[in-house]
Amino acid sequence: MKVRLTVNGEDREVEVEPRRLLSDVLRHELDCQGVHLGCEHGVCGACTVIMDGVAVRSCLTLAPQAEGTTVLTTEGLGTPEHPSVVQRAFKTEHGLQCGFCTPGFVCAITAMLDDVDEMDDGELREALAGNICRCTGYANIVKAARRAAAERDESDSVIRQGGGCCGEQRGCCNG
Ligand code: FES
Ligand code: FES
Repeated sequence: MKVRLTVNGEDREVEVEPRRLLSDVLRHELDCQGVHLGCEHGVCGACTVIMDGVAVRSCLTLAPQAEGTTVLTTEGLGTPEHPSVVQRAFKTEHGLQCGFCTPGFVCAITAMLDDVDEMDDGELREALAGNICRCTGYANIVKAARRAAAERDESDSVIRQGGGCCGEQRGCCNG
C-alpha cells in the first residue's frame, strides 16, 4: 500500500506492507538516520518523533497510521550549522555522552516546549520519564531542557513552521 506523509518539510510517498513500522520506514526508506531504535517495544523513547505536533514512539506506530500526517525527526529541527534551540541547549549543557538517546530527547523536549509555558524540575523530569538515557544521569538533560525553555522564542517553533530546516538562517524556514 502507498503511504503519503510530510517528513521534515518534504512531501513523501512510500510503498509499504501494512505491518511496517514507522520507525523502520523513516530510517530505511526515508533516510532519517536520527530515528534511533533501542528497545523497539515503546520503553526507551529513542525512536521518538513528532507527529502532527505530538511526540510519538515511531516503533509503536504502523507506517499506514502516518498517512496524511506531518512528521518531524531531529534532522528536520535543525542542522549542524543551524541547530534548533533545543539542539543548541544540549550542546551548551553537555546533555549527551554517547548520543544514542539524544534525538528522542530532543524531539520529546521540542514537542513539550511547544505545549507548555512553564514547568518546574519535578514536572520536567516526569515529562521526560518516558525517555531512557544510559550515560548521562539526566542532570544535564534537564538543564538543557530548562535552557531551551528560557531561550526559546516564537521563531524557534519548528513545529508550527512545519519543519524542514533549510539551514540558511535560524527561524527562517517556511516563512
Ligand atoms: S525504540 Fe521505540 S521506545 Fe525504544
Ligand atoms: S547519551 Fe548515551 S544513552 Fe543517552
